[in-house]
Amino acid sequence: MQDSEARQVRLAAAFVRSRAAPSTVGVVLGSGLGAFGDELGDVLKVPYALIPDMPRSTVVGHAGNLCLGEVSGVRVACLQGRVHAYEGHTLSRVAFGVRLLAELGCQSVLLTNAAGGIAANLTPGALMLITDHINLMGDSPLTGPNYGSGPRFPDLTQAYDRELADAALAAARAGDLELHSGVYAALRGPSYETPAEIRMLRTLGADAVGMSTVPEVIALRQIGLKVAAVSCITNLAAGISPRPLDHAEVETTARRTRTAFVGLLSRWVKLAAELT
Ligand code: HPA
Repeated sequence: MQDSEARQVRLAAAFVRSRAAPSTVGVVLGSGLGAFGDELGDVLKVPYALIPDMPRSTVVGHAGNLCLGEVSGVRVACLQGRVHAYEGHTLSRVAFGVRLLAELGCQSVLLTNAAGGIAANLTPGALMLITDHINLMGDSPLTGPNYGSGPRFPDLTQAYDRELADAALAAARAGDLELHSGVYAALRGPSYETPAEIRMLRTLGADAVGMSTVPEVIALRQIGLKVAAVSCITNLAAGISPRPLDHAEVETTARRTRTAFVGLLSRWVKLAAELT
């Protein structure tokens, strides 16, 4: 079968390349975390709607722009908003944006998301470096014809790059920010979890829970890019919190961390570029 996904990504990349310089570091901004894209220098914002075959997000808080710009002298390609499986996209379509980042020349990709805190130390406003994940989405972005020339059965023993993780910790220290570490469990959503599901996730070894990131990480590892990810803990997971969960709380907490997050990402991008 023809690998039409790879062909579509190449065409999308050709469209973007005709408008902007190549990028070395890719960044993906999660719910309420889009501010970094607005703070880039010499920025060109390309709405997803203009990029051939690029899937679009329907979620409030996800802008839907590819931001091409510069921070600390590093060329950055930034997805301001992502699409999710719960919007009806296949996981391969969910990974379209990060495959585009790879095609645009990025050597490493730093992903961010909003997540519910399961571990006791992960309270709203905390930041967590993802050290490993549990894929409970019931599918993989690699389902279907093999993508490009990457392996059919990629190894995920060290899915999250150690050097990039160390760079994140160094960037946090430099900004006097606390950066926790933990395991991220990904579910499809869009309903939040039940308290019984959160107890199950804790037993399985998850520290935080969300509905994104894992498909992108798997797709990027299959291409061979270096990957790292940070969760912004926006709420206590279901059953831990005395209050019902809602997206407004997720967005408000993410926005509250805006300055800290933008600073962390700026320093992290610089350190990440030094590793390439
Ligand atoms: N569960 C799942 N996804 C989330 C949560 C949560 O509690 N918070 C932000 N994204």
